[in-house]
Amino acid sequence: MIKDFFSQPEGLQSLSGEVTILHSVDSTQIFAASLAREGTSDGASVVAEIQTKARGRFGHDWYSPSGGLWVSVILKPSSAPARLPLLSIAGACAVCEAIEDVTKLDSVGIKWPNDVVIRGRKIGGVILEASFKSRKLEYAILGAGINVNIPTTSFPSELRESATSLCILTGRNYPLSPLFNSFRRSLDKLYLKYTNKQDQAIQQVIQTRILGIGSRVKMRLSGKTTSGLVKGIDVDAGLVIENDQNKILTIYDRDVESLTFLGDRDKASN
Ligand code: BTN
Repeated sequence: MIKDFFSQPEGLQSLSGEVTILHSVDSTQIFAASLAREGTSDGASVVAEIQTKARGRFGHDWYSPSGGLWVSVILKPSSAPARLPLLSIAGACAVCEAIEDVTKLDSVGIKWPNDVVIRGRKIGGVILEASFKSRKLEYAILGAGINVNIPTTSFPSELRESATSLCILTGRNYPLSPLFNSFRRSLDKLYLKYTNKQDQAIQQVIQTRILGIGSRVKMRLSGKTTSGLVKGIDVDAGLVIENDQNKILTIYDRDVESLTFLGDRDKASN
């Protein structure tokens, strides 16, 4: 699998940086952050075959055996902190596009904010971790995980109901290199839009991917439970909700303690 990664896709504009390939690492996020601190340039990636302490969002662990695509990308845009959630969801869109490109599966969507979902099950996820110096973004590490060649029996029992993989869905295994290259090509285009501050163009891409628009949701925000109807995504990647008092609220990932979609079989919890 390792040397499989050495083909560099052509035509990358912003993500043509070096790719570090590791057999086993605690977390590609940690490794990439150390490279970023040492001065590794914008657009470099770290890929690992196995992660022993992979990080999910909200301090969760991320199951990372051999057979998945585990990647972290070093990004050093000039960006206000408030724009970073947009970059993070753009990363989830790049995961969706890469999956569709390589497998021809359709209906790959995003359960806001960052879960990549097919047929109601989580196939991948994205995390964005940022470091600031004097309130200026020093670097961001965009981590993406895709369950590729992982059979049901390999998942820990607590994930078997909620997670899936490309091999479970299609009955075949996939080489990781084309998926990785496709992810880089998609992220490259979105990142170019991001650095050119074309936030509305990114918002439009996200809007086509977000699941549950028009569905009712129940959420817990700063200790209070609220419910309402999902209207869409705003330009800062916040989820726009019309609450039961017909008031429009925009909620952000950082404020949400839990989020449950009602009236469909998808259930998300943050
Ligand atoms: C989530 O859905 O909670 C986000 C999961 C992100 C997992 C990826 S795998 C590659 C990178 N390295 C990590 O430690 N985490 C991310």
